[in-house]
Amino acid sequence: MQKKSYLLAIETSCDENAAAILDYSGKVVADIVCSQVTVHAPYGGVVPEIASREHLVKITDVVKRSFAQANISSQNIEAVAVAYGPGLIGSLLVGAQFAKGFAQSLAVPLIGIHHIEGHLMAGMVSANFSKAPFIALIASGGHSALYEVNQSYNFSQLGDTRDDAAGEAFDKTAKLLGLGYPGGQIIDKNAGQGDPNIYQFPIALHQKSTLEYSFSGLKTSVRAKVQKLREQNVAIKGQVLNDICAGVQKAIVDALLNKAFLACKQHDLKTLVLGGGVCANSLLRSQAEARGQKNGVQVFLPPKKYCTDNAVMIGLAAYRRIETGQKKFKSVCVDANALLCAD
Ligand code: KG4
Ligand code: ZN
Repeated sequence: MQKKSYLLAIETSCDENAAAILDYSGKVVADIVCSQVTVHAPYGGVVPEIASREHLVKITDVVKRSFAQANISSQNIEAVAVAYGPGLIGSLLVGAQFAKGFAQSLAVPLIGIHHIEGHLMAGMVSANFSKAPFIALIASGGHSALYEVNQSYNFSQLGDTRDDAAGEAFDKTAKLLGLGYPGGQIIDKNAGQGDPNIYQFPIALHQKSTLEYSFSGLKTSVRAKVQKLREQNVAIKGQVLNDICAGVQKAIVDALLNKAFLACKQHDLKTLVLGGGVCANSLLRSQAEARGQKNGVQVFLPPKKYCTDNAVMIGLAAYRRIETGQKKFKSVCVDANALLCAD
């Protein structure tokens, strides 16, 4: 990118309306995230129709605020990047149509970025971010998958979840425990006061050499445990609740990291990059670092605020594409189920 030129990035895949601006050196000069959590909380989860309507209401203001924060005008924009999928189709459409119109009005290129590629590149915000090849673990509300990223930054998926994603497992067990939405952060907080060894929950596919995940059995096991405790007249609150949260968190984190380090071993790679909302989890972060040191694997974690959905990660992924000449300037078509594949 040229000096005095900037990249505008937009992310509206789910319930965050976000815009970011990066300068010619890839530095973040604006980062605005407008969360819809309070809008969806009464329903216990994201309501897709409400999400897209909220995006429509917020997007212009969010983009305007990003320009004010960067202290630049639209004339300084050299390219616009947007997440085209996967996600909620209505939500994706709002961001993509806005980005298309904006890029067209300025006669600058529009770069479509896969949402997972964004999560993978969030760590690039740190100057010492690893160069590929590496193994990547993406753990979010919609995905729990392992990828091998080769020297040309082509992604091949090594394993996926067979049912629920890790974030979904956090959110569903939190709901079951009456903890509200979004569950990941609440379980993380409660688990900090709990003992993970009082209530132990199963880790699916533990013994197998497969790189797949399965989390749906966890909520069944938590439900059974809660029912049993209630039959014994044990109230699910206070220390008991904290201990259950710690047990749930440990089961999810162990499952994620066991397979991530297995992938490093199977593919003989000594670098592991993590991304996605669940990577904001305290135990996952400390365990990933500890296991990395023990196994001689260098672990890269994005700062917590860039783990959950944001537009900086979309900007960073687009920036890398521009810098490496791997531009994706073809027309951007939203795709709710977009696969991350080599291009
Ligand atoms: O990446 P993200 O913002 O959205 C998707 O692309 O899905 O991830 C959201 C997920 C939610 O399931 C949320 O509960 C989980 O990330 N999450 C956490 C934490 N913070 C967010 N899970 C565990 N511990 C956290 N601290
Ligand atoms: Zn995400």
